[in-house]
Amino acid sequence: MDLASEYMGLGLRNPLVASPSPLSKTVDGVRRLADGGVGAVVLYSLFEEQLRREAALNARLTDAGTESFAESLSYFPEVAQEEPGPRQYLSLLERAAAAVEVPVIASLNGATPGGWAGYARAMQDAGAAAIELNVYYLPGDPHISGREVEQRHVDVLTAVKDAVSIPVAVKLSPHFSSTGEMALRLDQAGADGLVLFNRFLQPDIDPDALAVTPTVELSSPAEARLPRTWIALLHGRVRAALAATTGVEEPADVAKYLLAGADVVMTTSALLRHGPAYAAVLLDGLRAWMARKGFAAVDELRGILSVAPGTDEAAHERADYVSALRKANSSVYGPW
Ligand SMILES: Cc1cc2nc3c(=O)[nH]c(=O)nc-3n(C[C@H](O)[C@H](O)[C@H](O)COP(=O)(O)O)c2cc1C
Repeated sequence: MDLASEYMGLGLRNPLVASPSPLSKTVDGVRRLADGGVGAVVLYSLFEEQLRREAALNARLTDAGTESFAESLSYFPEVAQEEPGPRQYLSLLERAAAAVEVPVIASLNGATPGGWAGYARAMQDAGAAAIELNVYYLPGDPHISGREVEQRHVDVLTAVKDAVSIPVAVKLSPHFSSTGEMALRLDQAGADGLVLFNRFLQPDIDPDALAVTPTVELSSPAEARLPRTWIALLHGRVRAALAATTGVEEPADVAKYLLAGADVVMTTSALLRHGPAYAAVLLDGLRAWMARKGFAAVDELRGILSVAPGTDEAAHERADYVSALRKANSSVYGPW
């Protein structure tokens, strides 16, 4: 059974990719993901805020002179207890890339154009096979126009692309007025891959504690429907590779994304729930399904259920919507 796949020009042994999560915070964690069988690993994200803070810290140290080193550090007391910083990230990246056979992709997470984006170059030099740029931006200010939000995505991508020669994927949100046009703009701006979609932190409210409770919950397979719909629509319409993220729990979820047209299928929640070795279960299940269906290679099945180019996409989506509603209504009220 041939699972070999290509993602942004990288040859992968299979299309299953470990997406950013705490599982990739150590070299041992990355090794366990690779041993589980994934085709590539995307490291957890390094955040724009961390890079800005380090740049500010360095500037203060330079200004203050070496004698006042301890005093200068106290300007940023939180740094010591924080997430591993940029230097630790590069060190992990370098050691992880040397420790495993599969490509290791670095993740840079930010929302505003700026010098921090140039850090992608250091990631390339440390051995990243590619960069995944997570533009995690929620325009909470109601005065910001949709066009400004879109332009910001393009500007951040352009800054990262200018810094590196390795491929750059953009992990984006589904919340655009025209998600398809945003994808096309990123494609035209040079994105080598599109990762669909970011899953935003949606805080809950605890009515007893009268408090807002930010939570990161693991996903469920039903959440895969939105990214899968967009992958089916974008397949064959963009030059960029398409990576699916969200809602993989069973081998069938991997198969569905490939049928829709994903070049690779990413997973985090399933690996957090069942452990990195679960990648082998997903891959074995994919092989068994392919054998049952008579497919010898993933390239034979990729995209066969995508929306064919030349289709009137809006009419297609509306037709599906109307017929689904009709079916649902007739099951309650009888035929329309
Ligand atoms: C605990 C946790 C940590 C995550 N950290 C990151 C991160 O650092 N960067 C990022 O781009 N995505 C991060 N994600 C999002 C995942 O990479 C993935 O896109 C998302 O969980 C949807 O995929 P899934 O349904 O397979 O979990 C994180 C998700 C979880 C659950």
